[in-house]
Amino acid sequence: MEQTPFFTSQEENELANQKIAEGDYVLIYLDARRTYMIKMQPGQTFHTHKGYLKLDELIGKEYGEPIKSNLGIYFTTLKPALTDYIMKSSRNTQIIYPKDAALIVMFSGIGPGSRVVESGTGTGSLTTALAHYVGPTGKVYTYELRPEFQKNAAKNLERSKLIDHVEMKSGDVTLGIEERDVNAVILDLAVPWLVVPHAYEALRPSGIIVSFSPTIDQVVKTTEALRENGFVFIETIECMMRAMQVERGKTRPQTLMTGHTGYITHARKILKLPVQENTQTLIQEETVAEEAPVDQEKVEEIA
Ligand SMILES: C[S@@+](CC[C@H](N)C(=O)[O-])C[C@H]1O[C@@H](n2cnc3c(N)ncnc32)[C@H](O)[C@@H]1O
Repeated sequence: MEQTPFFTSQEENELANQKIAEGDYVLIYLDARRTYMIKMQPGQTFHTHKGYLKLDELIGKEYGEPIKSNLGIYFTTLKPALTDYIMKSSRNTQIIYPKDAALIVMFSGIGPGSRVVESGTGTGSLTTALAHYVGPTGKVYTYELRPEFQKNAAKNLERSKLIDHVEMKSGDVTLGIEERDVNAVILDLAVPWLVVPHAYEALRPSGIIVSFSPTIDQVVKTTEALRENGFVFIETIECMMRAMQVERGKTRPQTLMTGHTGYITHARKILKLPVQENTQTLIQEETVAEEAPVDQEKVEEIA
């Protein structure tokens, strides 16, 4: 199996010390706003408004070495990280950004060896993150309706060398999920509530579902479907990220920020109870959710 290009293990750290080779993807860095992911192809030149770089001169160099364009401007070469592969993916859909992908991964509880169902594949940005975290012994089964999107996502996954950790599946996930006993089901599509019953069948007991939706209407329908289909511990969150500009005496939040991406709803599968008892459980859960947060230490003191 091919090594992923990320710095996640001793072996990969050793790989990271390797020099730039023909065929590698390299992040050419000018400043934080101007970075370019380029495949090292002999005989090619890379043109920017700050002059051009001859790729032949980069091949064989250490990552991080400064390189001068023909106009005398310094660039440097970085080994692309997971976030670079996500942000520089060739896009044909809206993608999940790293701030949301990080939380999705965390709430899903996945790790090396996990089996995960995802839909839709879209550009494959979230697939890239999931494939990275399940590692070579896990698998991401990703369902996509549109073949042209699937093809593009496959190219993105080949570029990050994560394709071996992914099984790409064509079709409408609202009609069913083939896998069973998976650790997590992760949804980013227009009608996640229609997939909830299939996710229940696919998940192992106590397995986790995570759904990303841009609108509150989708969140409400999904949450209702989760309550009706044997899921508990249901929570919806929104992650707002504010970048800082850091300069001595002038450090403050940046003026512009991304106002909204989407809401993340996550829940866990329980074994279904008889209808009446199940209703009772859900009522209890709603009541608990409305109570003020309890200080756990105080509760222990009282006990
Ligand atoms: C917002 S995009 C997903 C983007 C993806 N999470 C990423 O980070 O690149 C939604 C995708 O879901 C796909 N889709 C919509 N309904 C679907 C369905 N019923 N079954 C499978 N895929 C579906 C769409 O074709 C689209 O590619």
